[in-house]
Amino acid sequence: MRIILLGPPGAGKGTQAKILAKELNVSHISTGDLLRQNVSEGTDLGKEAKDFMNKGLLVPDELIRQMLTKRFSRPDVKAGFILDGYPRNINQAQTLEDILAGLKMGIDLVIDLATSESVIIQRLSGRLVCSQCGANFHIRNMPPKKEMTCDNCGGKLYQRSDDKEETIKKRLAVYAAESASLIKYYQDKEKLYTISANEDAQVVLKKMLDLIDKRDDPLKV
Ligand code: AP5
Repeated sequence: MRIILLGPPGAGKGTQAKILAKELNVSHISTGDLLRQNVSEGTDLGKEAKDFMNKGLLVPDELIRQMLTKRFSRPDVKAGFILDGYPRNINQAQTLEDILAGLKMGIDLVIDLATSESVIIQRLSGRLVCSQCGANFHIRNMPPKKEMTCDNCGGKLYQRSDDKEETIKKRLAVYAAESASLIKYYQDKEKLYTISANEDAQVVLKKMLDLIDKRDDPLKV
């Protein structure tokens, strides 16, 4: 199964992609996680990307293309993947098609996690991320059992540097500017399904699994 998760910052793309990837036994590919890894390792890509990320702007398409081409050259993608945070604009969507065409693959499903602005602000302002395994928590919605400590691996939790109010606003504006044309792109290809992601994470997950289940059996759609 090859799935793209679309949605604004804070929609729950990362949270859901991690669970879905395990459920479906496929890889989770997050451009945000790959970029943050490059930043923390101080690679050339990370050095170039850091400023854009801290300002809430998109990292230039060409840098993302190089990073994604490298990621898609790994053998695990053959079993399927959940793409989280990519594509972000039409140019990236076309690049993705080129990369996948080279691998003789296509996308099965694009799920748009529609989320209201008040929910987004509440989620991002309380998000905590594990510095070791990348698991997501939330101060109130999904608190860790032990303060600032990851339930999964015991790693230290931190707040992302782009989860400041001013940067969140910029990220939302960038999303608003790019998302409509991207959504139309996948609507025209009859790949797009929109679900409300305002609800509890388990409810959103169930909606996605139902959707995937129906797609597996065309008679149910
Ligand atoms: P990226 O890391 O992709 O950030 P984003 O798209 O802004 O999305 P987020 O990670 O903020 O949110 P999410 O939807 O994953 O929500 P999450 O599951 O964490 O990108 C960061 C930056 O990198 C970009 O700004 C850009 O600079 C650059 N970049 C990345 N990809 C790029 C690309 N393709 N091109 C160019 N630049 C790129 O959930 C948020 C919080 O809510 C968590 O605390 C979670 O626990 C909680 N939560 C989640 N779901 C629920 C729920 N249903 N109920 C209650 N709480 C919930």
